[in-house]
Amino acid sequence: ALAMGKELAGRPLIFLAATDSTNRVALEMAEQGGGPAVVVAESQSGGRGRLQRQWHSPPEAGIYASFLYWPRLEPQDLAKLTLAAGLALARALEKNTGLHPGLKWPNDLLLAGKKCGGILCECRLVAGTGKPAVVIGIGLNVNTPSRDIPPELQHKATSLRLASGRTWDRGVLLAALGQELDIVVATMEQGGFAEILASWRKRDALLGHELDWLTPNGQVVRGISLGPDQHGILQIRDHQGCTHEVISGDITANLG
Ligand code: BTN
Repeated sequence: ALAMGKELAGRPLIFLAATDSTNRVALEMAEQGGGPAVVVAESQSGGRGRLQRQWHSPPEAGIYASFLYWPRLEPQDLAKLTLAAGLALARALEKNTGLHPGLKWPNDLLLAGKKCGGILCECRLVAGTGKPAVVIGIGLNVNTPSRDIPPELQHKATSLRLASGRTWDRGVLLAALGQELDIVVATMEQGGFAEILASWRKRDALLGHELDWLTPNGQVVRGISLGPDQHGILQIRDHQGCTHEVISGDITANLG
């Protein structure tokens, strides 16, 4: 099991053996005015992903953690914080495993072109606080064996273990993640998104690749990724030379 103390990188840690969703728990704490904290679960029965998807969260295998922040940021900066969180996750892994994960807009973490982690940021405006509460939810497949990856996801999902051939200490990775998140949140609060974006772009797995964007109204736009712009909005150039700005929707690319 994930052995844990009572705090993680200086913030209170709430460890749950099992829950539905650590994001749900952290948002509830925010609504009750709770301070910065991290909620970690050994397994989740209803792990939430982007676009109403489920995050498969078997016990022993992964990191399922939700970090609650009250950052001094404007609501329009919160989408940028999602990119910043992806960068923090990539840095935590690079420093502790030597692996070189790629980032897929807006916030998937890739190893060898397959997804091994994802981020779901959710925010709440809590009356009387003057700042938004932000929950940065992180799911990372760490020691997940192949048999725990559903058959329909085998071609596009992986774990650190599958990509590197060994297992990793989840507690070490989680502590590093807490530190790296604090760094990017502080950088954002100091108006440093340009710096974050520059680091993010170095790890951009889609840049220059052909991709399909499934728009929120169900159209498919095919084009080449130009990467996120200074607002964190993904730019795609279609084959007629038109540029499309992507703020939401699903991106698929053949990175194999
Ligand atoms: C995605 O790739 O769509 C984002 C997945 C985010 C999953 C994590 S697991 C911990 C936290 N709690 C949740 O319910 N979701 C996030």
